[in-house]
Amino acid sequence: EEGLHPTQYPWEHTKWTKTFDHNSLRRGFQVYREVCAACHSLKRIPYRSLVGTMMTVDEAKALAEENEYDTDPNDEGEIEKRPGKLSDYIPSPYKNDEAARAANNGALPPDLSLMVKARHGGCNYIFSLLTGYPEEPPAGATVQSGLNFNPYFPGTGIAMARVLYDGLVEYEDGTAATASQMAKDVVEFLNWTAEPEMDERKKMGIKVMIIGTALLALSGWVKRYKWAGIK
Ligand code: HEM
Repeated sequence: EEGLHPTQYPWEHTKWTKTFDHNSLRRGFQVYREVCAACHSLKRIPYRSLVGTMMTVDEAKALAEENEYDTDPNDEGEIEKRPGKLSDYIPSPYKNDEAARAANNGALPPDLSLMVKARHGGCNYIFSLLTGYPEEPPAGATVQSGLNFNPYFPGTGIAMARVLYDGLVEYEDGTAATASQMAKDVVEFLNWTAEPEMDERKKMGIKVMIIGTALLALSGWVKRYKWAGIK
């Protein structure tokens, strides 16, 4: 059963001449950390990838150091704890899938790293899902106990409750943290986690177009010049 078709939003960062809004990425990562990270992992993202895209090297180091990681076994085979470093990956909220399900009524909060690419509708779907919980399910709708009504979720009964409410986080850049602003920022951030090379790819694409056009024009001129005497 398909969910309600998500609204098509005019995402700036998906246009071919535009890059991610890196202030939005920084805010979106804050939303991930303060809200989503309680239940969702982001397994494919190392701290080092945050440097330059949304924070300074010192900020990323400090963030990594907030978590502990296992050392490699020493000669006696002992594993110890060490503070995180830039090459470490963002830790998962649960030890394994069983623990994750146990904490979520049997449902598994999926890893969000590639979610924008994995779900039909991408950014529009996730934004619609996060902002689309009605106050009450519509009259006549049946919602299984333990599930929440969301028309955008295929089947409409989702184990995740509404999480975004106005003012839930406080943005350091002064942006008003409305539910829709947080949803926009976290979706843009999740698009970055799924396609961290997007900015580079677009810049390269534009170079290819410029150089390609120049070479095409040149070859046109050479052709006319070479064939001029034969006509
Ligand atoms: C599912 C995003 C916060 C628990 C999902 C899905 C997305 C998502 C995209 C997948 C929906 C699908 O399968 O199509 C987010 C974002 C969050 C957030 C961006 C923060 C803004 C949370 C929190 C919890 C949670 C805080 C736990 C309290 C779950 C669970 C599912 C889920 C259990 C599985 C739902 C099901 O299969 O029925 N979330 N989530 N999420 N989320 Fe979240």
